[in-house]
Amino acid sequence: MVRNDFAKPQRVNASTPHDVKLEIDVRSQDLITKMLLDEFSQHALYGEEGIVGDQASEFQWVVDPLDGTVNYFYRIPHFCVSIALRFKGEIIVGVIYDPMRDELWMAQKGTKPKLNEQEIRVSEHADIAEAVVSVGLSKSAETIALGLPVLDDMVHRARKCRLLGSAALDMAYVACGRFDAYIEQGISLWDIAAGWILIETAGGNVEVQPRTDLPGRYSVVATNGVLDLKL
Ligand code: IPD
Repeated sequence: MVRNDFAKPQRVNASTPHDVKLEIDVRSQDLITKMLLDEFSQHALYGEEGIVGDQASEFQWVVDPLDGTVNYFYRIPHFCVSIALRFKGEIIVGVIYDPMRDELWMAQKGTKPKLNEQEIRVSEHADIAEAVVSVGLSKSAETIALGLPVLDDMVHRARKCRLLGSAALDMAYVACGRFDAYIEQGISLWDIAAGWILIETAGGNVEVQPRTDLPGRYSVVATNGVLDLKL
């Protein structure tokens, strides 16, 4: 659905200085919700566009129905759908789909993750001078202020820094070795939940810290597990 509507004019539900909310985000979550809760009627769903289902359930789907919304709005073909499943709070499944490149990452606890049926692993770069590092700035003055010093530091020490506008794809790219690390402050759980299990099952390391200054937001540092970022 998001691929089919990519070239069409988009309805904007809300606009802020560094973000837009599109009607297609809501339609995508509605479709995902219907498909999941039709199949698993007892489960809960926690998504960027709202909370649905039985919140007492031990099973909770964590959904970003369109990650990279600003890219989508500006017709930059770099965005994805990210879905994770938590059981008693632990992430046990993660899928990320890039509909423009038809790339599907899948992870399940205890198994090797895949990209389009091929097993994947993180990269082996240990030296920051050889690393490609994605640094996100999220979408508020606070997160930009927190991220800029990190970007300034990394851009001088890494081979290249990237700022591509989809946290979930950043995580997927670390999992399959395209990126060596991804760093962002002030991210939401739905942006990183599926990528988290992808990176861990692909041999990498993910550190997530709740931000006391930004309720419901997290700092994330995801690496291939051997890279010394010297943050
Ligand atoms: C955003 C993207 C962006 C990141 C923001 C996220 P959204 O998600 O992942 O790369 O910098 O922090 O909120 O709003 O497009 O789903």
